[in-house]
Amino acid sequence: MKTVGVFDSGVGGLSVLRALLAELPGTRFVYAADSAYAPYGERTAQDVSQRTERITALLRERHGIDALVVACNTATAHAINELRQHHPDLPIIGVEPALKPAAALSRNGHIGVLATRGTLGSARVAALRDRLVEASPRPLHFSFQPCDGLAGAIERHDLPTIQNLSERYVQALQQADAAIDTVVLGCTHYPFVQDQLAALCGADVTLVDTGVAVARRTREVLATLPATGSSNTADEAPLLLSSGPPEALAQAAQRWLGLGVSASPLFD
Ligand code: DGL
Repeated sequence: MKTVGVFDSGVGGLSVLRALLAELPGTRFVYAADSAYAPYGERTAQDVSQRTERITALLRERHGIDALVVACNTATAHAINELRQHHPDLPIIGVEPALKPAAALSRNGHIGVLATRGTLGSARVAALRDRLVEASPRPLHFSFQPCDGLAGAIERHDLPTIQNLSERYVQALQQADAAIDTVVLGCTHYPFVQDQLAALCGADVTLVDTGVAVARRTREVLATLPATGSSNTADEAPLLLSSGPPEALAQAAQRWLGLGVSASPLFD
């Protein structure tokens, strides 16, 4: 049985864990939410890098992970290169806004991207967009919309603020480009408000997220690892850890994944 660490600034990475649980039954998951430091989206790249490194070290030392899923677009954008340099022996799977699948899905090449300020301001995502625009046989128009406060509101399960901010950011996208037919959910928190966003975008707009693609990629990566440890493949509930109040993480896992497990402090 392999142990996979899954890490996010908070509860958002549960949307990736949901896809991982469906794709990889018989795998042990250790989910780490850095909720005491969430949201990451408005923090500096250096802060995000330091937190990512600290949590990765903890997941390795205390939980013996065989692979790590950085289930956070912001942490991937700011920290994954450095993290791979520091941990060359650890397979690390990141999460990036689904610009490429969106470009393939869009009928007219007009794509909106909702994500954190940190993700959208990163050199990594700008380079991804530029590569796609250059390689595309037809014009592609990406409109980037930073969603300050939205991940934080989802983290707090603050429904009125979620609704307010969703309206504000979808309207901003529509004003930027009325032809948008595909919207990328470029933050792992946003699939949990997909229904609100879809209603605001309208029935003609397709929403794209990355959970399933990341889970498939993780399966491919795990298949390349040598078999180690116990051959026991009995299903085990994920271990949930949080640097914030553990009950909030357990409640989110119950609400969105139907997981009836308690959570523990990430650090003691
Ligand atoms: N869920 C994260 C992401 O995918 C981070 C949100 C935040 O902490 O700001 O970007």
